[in-house]
Amino acid sequence: MIKTALVTGAASGLGYELAMLLANDGYKLILVDIDELGLAKVKAEIADKFNLEVITLIRDLSAPNVAQDIIDTISNEPIDVLINNAGFGLFGSFVETEWERESEMLHLHILTTTHLTKLVLESMVQRGSGRILNVSSLAAFQPGPLMAIYYASKGYMLSFSEAIANELKGTGVTVTALCPGPTKTDFQKTVAEDSSNNKITFNMASAKAVALYGYNSMLKGKAYAIPGKFNKFLAVLPRLVTRNAATFIVRKIQEKNREK
Ligand SMILES: NC(=O)c1ccc[n+]([C@@H]2O[C@H](COP(=O)([O-])OP(=O)(O)OC[C@H]3O[C@@H](n4cnc5c(N)ncnc54)[C@H](OP(=O)(O)O)[C@@H]3O)[C@@H](O)[C@H]2O)c1
Repeated sequence: MIKTALVTGAASGLGYELAMLLANDGYKLILVDIDELGLAKVKAEIADKFNLEVITLIRDLSAPNVAQDIIDTISNEPIDVLINNAGFGLFGSFVETEWERESEMLHLHILTTTHLTKLVLESMVQRGSGRILNVSSLAAFQPGPLMAIYYASKGYMLSFSEAIANELKGTGVTVTALCPGPTKTDFQKTVAEDSSNNKITFNMASAKAVALYGYNSMLKGKAYAIPGKFNKFLAVLPRLVTRNAATFIVRKIQEKNREK
């Protein structure tokens, strides 16, 4: 029987690569993104390469109740794989950053992720199978001065995912938090004040490699997945130093990455 996967933020970057992996495995795809043109290109590419059914939904995933709207639009079709991937970064001191954008980020990373997960989970548990991949970040492991809301929201995604992964043991449903370090996608353009000055090139992974690592970890039912040995070390580092020291180090890294 053909399985169905729903991927958010599928028009580019990690979401695009994850959609391609699912297509390669023969999933019927429901792809959601705010980028209409980008999503149309992905749909055409998948149709061309894989001859699969692809439903595209153009949605602002930071809008209130968008998760319910998506599930209603697909008429409660059972979802076998849910990938909560859409997200964006925002750089700047909290006292100066724009609340409207931060509010959108909190809605997208926290409320929509949580609500979509809730809406697909009951049916997954009833059927005794399902995979959920929540794209968090290496940012989840410590506070992030100058990207405070981003780090905090990714921390929520990791904590939430690990907690429900534990609750779901024995149900046949697994939840995986993917925690990538810096990855070559459009995301990096957004978090740099000026992309020409963005120096985050060291330890930068390809979107294809990170997506494949996350995809395989999801299929194996891992609770969390950190691609790359150096990133695994960085995830543990905050436990080896004081909380203040961990926060100080992140601040220095953020400042250094953007110095002219
Ligand atoms: N790249 C990294 O270094 C990195 C590291 C750790 C974690 N991550 C996480 O990985 C995930 C994917 O990011 P990416 O690196 O692949 O970035 P990306 O290439 O910018 O892809 C994100 C996609 O999500 C879409 N999107 C953003 N806000 C949306 C909204 N409100 N409603 C619907 N769609 C929306 C974007 O559309 P538009 O382009 O039109 O906005 C874009 O197509 C994010 O959750 C990010 O936090 C990335």
